[in-house]
Amino acid sequence: MWYRSIGFKLIFSVGIAVMLVFMVFSYVNLEAQRKQLLQEMVRNSNLVSEVIKRSLRYNMLQYNPDQLYQAIDTIGAQEGIEKVRIFNARGEIIYSSDKKEVGTVLDKTAEQCYACHSKEKPFKRLSTTDRSRIFSTAKGYQLLGMINPIYNEPDCFSASCHVHPKDQEVLGVLDIDVSLREINDLIKDQRNKMVLFTLLAVSGIFIIIAVLINRLLRQPVKQLLEGTERVAAGDLMTPIPVTSKDELGILANSFNQMTARLRDSERELKASEEKYRSLFENDPNPIFVVDLETFQIMDVNIRAIETYGYSREEFLSMSFLDLGDEEEAEKIQSLVVHSCIFLPKIRHRKKDGTVLYVNIHSCPRQHLGKDVIIANIADISDRIQAEAQLIQAGKMATLGEMSAGVAHELNQPLNAIRVGTEYLHKIFTRNMKVSEEVVKKVCNEVISQVERASSIINHLREFGRKSEVDELDKIDINKPIRDVFTLLGQQLRVREIEVKLELDDNLPPILGVPNRLEQVFLNLVMNARDAILEKKEIMVNGDFHPCITIRSYCEGDKIVVDVIDNGIGIPEEVKDRIFEPFFTTKEVGKGTGLGLSISYGIVKDYGGSIQIESTGKEGTTFRITFPVADK
Ligand SMILES: Nc1ncnc2c1ncn2[C@@H]1O[C@H](COP(=O)(O)OP(=O)(O)OP(=O)(O)O)[C@@H](O)[C@H]1O
Ligand SMILES: [Mg+2]
Repeated sequence: MWYRSIGFKLIFSVGIAVMLVFMVFSYVNLEAQRKQLLQEMVRNSNLVSEVIKRSLRYNMLQYNPDQLYQAIDTIGAQEGIEKVRIFNARGEIIYSSDKKEVGTVLDKTAEQCYACHSKEKPFKRLSTTDRSRIFSTAKGYQLLGMINPIYNEPDCFSASCHVHPKDQEVLGVLDIDVSLREINDLIKDQRNKMVLFTLLAVSGIFIIIAVLINRLLRQPVKQLLEGTERVAAGDLMTPIPVTSKDELGILANSFNQMTARLRDSERELKASEEKYRSLFENDPNPIFVVDLETFQIMDVNIRAIETYGYSREEFLSMSFLDLGDEEEAEKIQSLVVHSCIFLPKIRHRKKDGTVLYVNIHSCPRQHLGKDVIIANIADISDRIQAEAQLIQAGKMATLGEMSAGVAHELNQPLNAIRVGTEYLHKIFTRNMKVSEEVVKKVCNEVISQVERASSIINHLREFGRKSEVDELDKIDINKPIRDVFTLLGQQLRVREIEVKLELDDNLPPILGVPNRLEQVFLNLVMNARDAILEKKEIMVNGDFHPCITIRSYCEGDKIVVDVIDNGIGIPEEVKDRIFEPFFTTKEVGKGTGLGLSISYGIVKDYGGSIQIESTGKEGTTFRITFPVADK
């Protein structure tokens, strides 16, 4: 709107101010002129009345009333003089140029008398101004009345014609009324001229200010405004023309500098955005930008699209939790907090339903004013496969090594079966008389030995079974510990190694897979066995009582298992390397060096830890800790 512009407001306010100044100035000026003219008029009237008074003096002294009245008529007929009259001391008009009022008596409150006789005060001599008065006639114009007292002089009270008493101070009053029409017309004319001048001057000033403001203010401001609108619309290339060196010129210059700087930073921002977009898109791992509150996917890189098989649009309408199963989603929801976290081995599904194992590294960030997480996904499906194969290889190696022990283990029931069946054979071939009771007992023993042998074989088969990825169950840690000795018990007995199981039977469950945990304890017990056998070799004499102790107990919210042996101990220089894959101190063919590294991986998978608690000449203690499973 034009009336909201600075130019209009400025012109309007300056115009009003100028008009007010002119009006006040004109008023003061006119008033001063009016006052001056009136004073002049008063002086002139006084002069005229003085001249009349003096010119009439002779006629009065001679007491020649006809001549006196004629003179008054002549003066009264002059242009500008409205009326001339004479009052005597009693207020009676003894003569007037207006014949009708001759003989009229005025009281002291009449406007002609009021100046001298106000409030019944005694007469006093007045100044010229006080003797004058302005009043309006019935015809509507103004008159200036001037009274001039006729004082008693020696001539008057000593003259022979008519003697006034000597003590009478004032004999009468000469009153002249002069018309102010001419002066009023003059003042009116002046006022009209002044108003016209004011209007012309204000209009002129209006026009000058408008032109100046338009040139000096409106145009540059308009250009600045257009410039800001261009910048707001995203055009940073067109500068504002700098037309002056005043404040607006400086402002335009600063604005151009600001736009240039904005252009530079926009260019830098674009370059940086392109750089990060390219890093984001070309990252070898899938990356997701996910809303921290809703888990809605906000952005993905090309690798994510390639890995999961969803299009970008499909991803943007999905939740990050949709990529995994329900329990995985719960894990992600509970773990994603306001700090960086690492979630290992999360199971995700591709669009075609194929399972994919990933490690998620997620960090909270701010993106487009929202709290988000940047989830970097590492596809570890191949590694999991390789790990599973390695574990399987480890198992097979263990089984191979244990074959002798297993043979021993199987030998016992087989021997018992042979003895039992040979006895039964003898009974039937020799037709021996044996009670039914004894035959039943032998048969039962054979059956129980067959069951034992089959349980060993089943256990072997179960242990050797290949499993791709673990499904975690709540298990009692003591079970896999005891199972170890199903396969190894006989072997240790043969080598006269005592086994002490100090297991707490009231332990809360842990999360894991029995098969794999058995592999861990098997590795530890076999290492303990080897350490003891090595020590036995060097202990030529002296009493050495080989012993392996396995202790399980609860400590806070952790389950702890100590595997203690009194073997050779681990030398200081190899202590830090024993968990490395393929590290072994054993002879070629005796150890692969995988036992501890596989055990370490399994324990870590279940959220636990494995470490050497102590080692030395008196033996080694391995300590394994697991978190208690949630209820
Ligand atoms: N209880 C122990 N006492 C002394 N040394 C041990 C003990 N346990 C492990 N070690 C040392 O750690 C090394 C690595 O053990 P690890 O179980 O990983 O491999 P390995 O037993 O040599 O071979 P594998 O277990 O594959 O047959 C062993 O060679 C041995 O030197
Ligand atoms: Mg080993």
